[in-house]
Amino acid sequence: MGQYRPLAAVVLAAGEGTRMRSSTPKVLHPLCGRPMLLHVVDALLALPLDRIVVVVGHGAERVTKTLQEQTATETPIEFVEQRVQAGTGDAASVALTAFPEELDGEDDILVVPGDTPLLRPETLALVAREHRAADAAATVLTARRADPGDYGRIVRDGRGLVDRIVERSDASEEELAIDEVNTSIYCFRRGLLAPALRRLSPENAQGEYYLTDAVGVLRQTGHTVVAVEAPDPVEPTGVNDRAQLAAAESCLRARINDLWMREGVTMVDPDRTYVDATVELEPEVRLLPGTILEGRTVVASGAVVGPDSHLVDTIVGEGAVVERSVAREAEIGDGAVVGPFAHLRPGTRLGPSAKAGSFVETKNAEVGEGAKVPHLAYVGDAEVGEGSNLGAGTITANYDGRSKHRTRIGRRVHTGSNTVLVAPVEVGDDATTGAGAVVVGDVPPGALAKGVPARNEEGWAAARRIVVKVAGAAGRSRPWRSSPRRS
Ligand code: UD1
Ligand code: CA
Repeated sequence: MGQYRPLAAVVLAAGEGTRMRSSTPKVLHPLCGRPMLLHVVDALLALPLDRIVVVVGHGAERVTKTLQEQTATETPIEFVEQRVQAGTGDAASVALTAFPEELDGEDDILVVPGDTPLLRPETLALVAREHRAADAAATVLTARRADPGDYGRIVRDGRGLVDRIVERSDASEEELAIDEVNTSIYCFRRGLLAPALRRLSPENAQGEYYLTDAVGVLRQTGHTVVAVEAPDPVEPTGVNDRAQLAAAESCLRARINDLWMREGVTMVDPDRTYVDATVELEPEVRLLPGTILEGRTVVASGAVVGPDSHLVDTIVGEGAVVERSVAREAEIGDGAVVGPFAHLRPGTRLGPSAKAGSFVETKNAEVGEGAKVPHLAYVGDAEVGEGSNLGAGTITANYDGRSKHRTRIGRRVHTGSNTVLVAPVEVGDDATTGAGAVVVGDVPPGALAKGVPARNEEGWAAARRIVVKVAGAAGRSRPWRSSPRRS
């Protein structure tokens, strides 16, 4: 005793997840922007484990790739493939093939399913601790549930010790009434798990090898099995269908929001604030209702986002304001103002104190410090220099039907309303364009580019009145009404 005993973890993630009715493997369905399985692995990575083995099967390649891409860790994650999904017991047997025979089997293995995204590292640590304190062959994390639903039931003997686990589909009326359920989170002594798994049989309602049966086998062979009740019964919730996915995501969201509020972020209505697990927020950020922050979004101190704003992979600078807007792969500078109703598309970079106002769309555009695009404009594949102001309706016509071209607007430029800048084109510093200008060639610095002015037709309204009267007398006063059909 007192000797170092290795602790490894096995994640069962080979199942199809039929109840999701999805072409995406169940464990890859995202919660708060991170695949379900990643939440489980993140919890494991917070523990001092010697190794992590993931059993993959259904969608093995996708699952493996996702894990490899989205975990940055020193603990290497190993994969073993369960070719036929013959049940959780079979999956555990496949996992054991990753462990060398040389070890004496005195090491312990935490087994967790890939579908418990709310699991906390502290709870896993508790299971391992209790397991070792009792020197048990197996330790099961259980939970009390008013509605035990589809979970396996924990059957205890006359002395109150765990006797076995019975799956819902194999349970008697009496067993179904048991409110203590199996969470599928276990700690096993490896040397005892292997022979127990060899004794499993698929003679049950589902025709599968149940890992749950290993508990009964160990008890029958005289080993100690311990039950640890989960301090929070919601935490080991399994996700099998989309309703459970939504419920779990809502729990996770509340947790994330709580964490940020404790870090100094204001959320006027946390129930209507959606922050991905991958987002970073600074203290003194204010999030208004209907705000959705996704991916690698980062919001700096003093910024106000919302109401009803959707930011994906977007960086928001200090003190910026983003109101009722959508941004993707954009950078919003310190003190910049976005919206209401702006759409910042990938490659948009708003400089400090710049503005992209109402009904403005930008893409692959750099808007310099203090430059303003206050309303009704499209700025794509463009640069707008410091202090410039684009009039309402200014459009960079960047696409000629074949390829995209750039528009370069210098500093302190003013464009008149409805200016069309036909790219490729350059407007020099301090230049101005008149209303309605269609700019097809470069504008030199300081120049004025004028559009096509309207010509006046004197007396036109009076002439029109006469025309309308004559037409009306002929019964055609309402040309927009379709004439009755003739049969
Ligand atoms: C399982 C337990 C049940 C427990 C519940 C808790 C069994 C037989 N039942 O039921 O007692 O209350 O979890 O959530 O273990 N998997 C594989 N290979 C397979 C089958 C499954 O890797 O051949 C993986 C799945 O990907 C999943 C996990 O094992 O991540 C659990 O499988 P699932 O089908 O969800 O088991 P439940 O029916 O929920
Ligand atoms: Ca499950």
